[in-house]
Amino acid sequence: ADASGRRTVPGPNRTQDRSAQRPSGGDGAAFSNTPDTDPDLPANRAWGRAILSRAEDSRIGTDTADSATLTTEGGLDAVVHAAVTAGERWGALTGAQRGAVLDEMGRALERHRADLLEAMASEAGKTLDQGDPEVSEAIDFAHYYATLARELDAVDGARFVPSRLTVVTPPWNFPVAIPAGSTLAALAAGSGVVIKPAKPARRSGAVMVEALWEALDATQSETGVGREVLQLVQLPKGQPGRGLGQRLIAHPDVDRVILTGGYETAELFRSFRKDLPLLAETSGKNAIIVTPSADLDLAARDVAQSAFGHAGQKCSAASLVVLVGSVARSKRFHHQLVDAVRSLHVGYPWDARTQMGPIIEPPGEKLQRGLTQLGDGEHWVLEPRRLDDSDKLWSPGVRAGVRPGSEYHLTEYFGPVLGVMTAATLEEAVALVNRIEYGLTSGLHSLDAEEIAYWTEHIQAGNLYVNRGITGAIVRRQPFGGWKKSAVGAGAKAGGPNYLVGLGSWQDAPVAG
Ligand code: SER
Repeated sequence: ADASGRRTVPGPNRTQDRSAQRPSGGDGAAFSNTPDTDPDLPANRAWGRAILSRAEDSRIGTDTADSATLTTEGGLDAVVHAAVTAGERWGALTGAQRGAVLDEMGRALERHRADLLEAMASEAGKTLDQGDPEVSEAIDFAHYYATLARELDAVDGARFVPSRLTVVTPPWNFPVAIPAGSTLAALAAGSGVVIKPAKPARRSGAVMVEALWEALDATQSETGVGREVLQLVQLPKGQPGRGLGQRLIAHPDVDRVILTGGYETAELFRSFRKDLPLLAETSGKNAIIVTPSADLDLAARDVAQSAFGHAGQKCSAASLVVLVGSVARSKRFHHQLVDAVRSLHVGYPWDARTQMGPIIEPPGEKLQRGLTQLGDGEHWVLEPRRLDDSDKLWSPGVRAGVRPGSEYHLTEYFGPVLGVMTAATLEEAVALVNRIEYGLTSGLHSLDAEEIAYWTEHIQAGNLYVNRGITGAIVRRQPFGGWKKSAVGAGAKAGGPNYLVGLGSWQDAPVAG
């Protein structure tokens, strides 16, 4: 057990993993992506089993780590004041100094990989194969934004002026990578931060913040800035959170809010404060188009993974597959897809066979409709079934016959259900996808260069994937962010080269008249 009484699982064995020989980011080194844990190494299998049995012990629904800062609504002003005061010292450091702290944060997240995986499995039902790349992504954000912080120092003739205070309101579906990414970006850009993790994943958020605090403690003697610059806000168990988020967002000291969540949440935030500087990654209703030239085996596998990884609870997930021409007319692809989906083992993450875990909470009204009700002309190819009394474990559903303009065509459900549409031509398929008001990720399976060029030119989405799955963007390689109603107030993409420059203000050198 460590000092906080938590049992610890040592880090994974990377020594036989050739990818681990690459230099990792940090200390001014050129950035490279952090390797995931190799699950096939015998030592890592034992490591994974230990994490999952610990997760099973603590189970879904356990309360947040006791060591996290818990605050009541009355303490909000004090929290904001502490973050602003520490943030002023933090923002006065050079980008290079902040970058060194971010590199230390990346190392701290790596040290806590097992704790983060355990929290995500127990609380959010995340399997290790989904969680491990998520921890790697959080580490990548630290080292990548460290390089961007250093670049802020080097812009000729202009001075970057940090924001004083950024509020981070992350979602529960990526309960480590997204809170980490938003927090690390704001810190890299010199701002104090108040983070309020999403309630269903509050413990994962707290474990992530504790890792960052560890790094702030370790570097405090060099920087003069401690953990106060990053404030964690959560209400003690049993207290309703009503009003806390609203008061936080509306607080006059807040310069910016970074939200990842539903489009409706972004609208709600704006109703709290009209002039709110909001940077929001919001909803998606994403489709994969499959044309007759595609490798259909590959397409079936990628559609199944994109639709049902983490039980479809990703803004990037595939919710529609659009079959073109002969793919729609023949039964072959349908059979391949159904076989691929039916063979997914559904269970809790501590069952080693599990490929699709539970949804995080019993389905809300919209997802309940998506899992149980058919629109005109639709039929179940695979009907979702509730597998236990928790109401969280559902088998994956596939509905066919989805009609243009129907509710299923246009609605984001955020769960384990996929709809099949058909189109006579690629042009028609692209028009069907573009009719959706969101534009986050989009996929094409085609081996025809002209089709790929046409689709790339006309499809309206921020992240495009050809002949692969449409989830799992990788820091720097595929900056992540959408168009249309998938982005509110955003321009630059997370994990991309421009993300920090909009998180503060720029002051040019004076020009003589
Ligand atoms: N970045 C995630 C993905 O690409 C979604 O938030 O799947």
